[in-house]
Amino acid sequence: MTNRDYAQVRNTIAALCDGETDSISKMATISCELYQALDGFDWVGFYRVVEPELLKIGPYQGGHGCLVIPFDKGVCGACAKTKTTQIVDDVDAFPGHIACSSTTRSEIVLPVFENDKLIAVLDIDSDKPSDFDEHDRDALEEILAASF
Ligand code: SME
Repeated sequence: MTNRDYAQVRNTIAALCDGETDSISKMATISCELYQALDGFDWVGFYRVVEPELLKIGPYQGGHGCLVIPFDKGVCGACAKTKTTQIVDDVDAFPGHIACSSTTRSEIVLPVFENDKLIAVLDIDSDKPSDFDEHDRDALEEILAASF
């Protein structure tokens, strides 16, 4: 199990986003804090649901990310389509993985709900294989549920 400690970054995000209702502002803040605070978070960003079955890039930290992802493509599309968190230990083994960086080895993508509606996915890439697990999933899902 990964041993990332989310307590401090969870509290920081809660304090910074307290009272904020604009989702883009919260996405910008969350991606910044997660990217700065946690080892192995080599790319952190949101893809927003802009049309049925279509994601477009939102606030992110790291190298450039692709701008548009249909729900039938990539790990982000799989997350949006199933509305469930995707943990990918080896991106090269994921059919249809979209490689925005050649250094990415593993990935976690989580659904973002607001008023029970899918509004985005949160994509986090690591340059290390198998760098995410249920501990990361549970902690990140908790942060997202508390933020939107
Ligand atoms: N790897 C993602 C695409 C987004 S880039 O990693 C930032 C995917 O397969 O959906």
